[in-house]
Amino acid sequence: MMNNPRPRLEGKVALITGGASGIGAAAARLFLDHGARVVIADVQDDLANQLIASVTDTANISYCHCDVRDEKQVEDAVSHTITKYGSLDILFSNAGIMGPMTTLLDMDLAAFDNTMSVNVRGAATTIKHAARIMVEKKIRGSIICTASVAASMGGAGPHAYTASKHAMVGLMRAACHELGAHGIRVNCISPFGVGTPLSCAAYNLEPSQVEANCCETANLKGVVLKAEHVAEVALFLASDESVYVSGQNLGVDGGFTVVNRSY
Ligand SMILES: NC(=O)c1ccc[n+]([C@@H]2O[C@H](COP(=O)([O-])OP(=O)(O)OC[C@H]3O[C@@H](n4cnc5c(N)ncnc54)[C@H](O)[C@@H]3O)[C@@H](O)[C@H]2O)c1
Repeated sequence: MMNNPRPRLEGKVALITGGASGIGAAAARLFLDHGARVVIADVQDDLANQLIASVTDTANISYCHCDVRDEKQVEDAVSHTITKYGSLDILFSNAGIMGPMTTLLDMDLAAFDNTMSVNVRGAATTIKHAARIMVEKKIRGSIICTASVAASMGGAGPHAYTASKHAMVGLMRAACHELGAHGIRVNCISPFGVGTPLSCAAYNLEPSQVEANCCETANLKGVVLKAEHVAEVALFLASDESVYVSGQNLGVDGGFTVVNRSY
């Protein structure tokens, strides 16, 4: 653990899907720095193992191969978390794909299904199994899902991606309703563009080019949004500082989704 003056997740256990790369990897490092024990669930084994090898606190972070489209693998990732660290206080359901950049008129429905399968069904499956354990063990947990600016507007991503992120907000609200009775909070974070492998691959650009494009269209000037900034917001929702915050889709977008930039 880093020499952190005020660890905000002391004693907590976090499961992070899509934790091998980008926003999930930044959250894994930050949560670890704040005293959490962390399980990364992802399909990129090498990248996850590299991340673990790069931290000093290796006893408090582990990896579980998990394709969120497969319910058995998700169930196993939750079991792995409990077996390894004895609790599950934080679920960061963050695994996601952008899918192909096609027009609606040329939409490939197999690709549409795959985007929905990873982004929505995967999140639903992960929330289901994490929440089951939280309810069974009477853990007043925090569930955080990574949505997007594409969760509240059209034109900010491919159609299937936009549909999947809108659906994620609906799923979060439904889960918030049911799980509130058990003291479990459920929220979304919705970032603006970040130069991660997901966005770089989608637009065939280098991270610096994605960042330059994002800065040009951004509402809030003077900050280049990084995965670490998004992880800080996930940390807030994971910690007890947000103890009465539930059912929110918290934008990390510098106001992009609430202003009319045509003026
Ligand atoms: N980068 C952006 O501009 C941006 C903006 C808004 C929202 N998001 C969202 O942030 C989340 C994280 O994306 P990122 O930008 O860090 O990209 P990333 O590609 O760096 O990370 C995504 C991770 O999800 C994993 N993943 C993909 N499919 C999976 C599956 N079936 N099962 C398990 N893991 C799987 C990948 O292996 C990868 O490690 C996604 O949900 C994405 O939609 C990203």
